[in-house]
Amino acid sequence: MNETDYKLLNSQLHALLDEEPDALAAASNFVGLLYNAIDDVNWLGIYVLRGNELVLGPFQGNPACVHIALDEGVCGAAASTMQTQRVADVHSFPGHIVCDSESRSELVVPLVTHGELIGVLDIDSPITRRFTEADQTGVEMLCESFCTLQEARKYFI
Ligand code: SME
Repeated sequence: MNETDYKLLNSQLHALLDEEPDALAAASNFVGLLYNAIDDVNWLGIYVLRGNELVLGPFQGNPACVHIALDEGVCGAAASTMQTQRVADVHSFPGHIVCDSESRSELVVPLVTHGELIGVLDIDSPITRRFTEADQTGVEMLCESFCTLQEARKYFI
């Protein structure tokens, strides 16, 4: 497995999104860029906050569960606490929602603009303990860039 160059990825993200006014297109390219650049990932996508639930947005991987309540799963935990959830072994996370049975570890980062939650980025790996602290910091930086680039828009998608 290669370590991800998050600085390079961040400049690629800016190149892709700086001039893109369409939020859905931007979110789709954000997901496509990360999925191909981070090794050993079987699912990567966005859940968008709609009312008081998370709803499936752009993703790469197998079809996944569409609605997640804010008190459910790793995604719900990230959304309700607005804290990144880095789960070394999904089987030891109470309430983990199995969308892809291959998934063993998971990194979920809240997407926040102007202090408000707009969704989460969810990354699943088939390898236990896949995500390091460096991955967490790197993905958090990318999510912050994505949200900053999106923040002029009232609606996310
Ligand atoms: N495992 C997640 C659900 C989403 S899928 O992994 C795509 C969770 O527990 O919130």
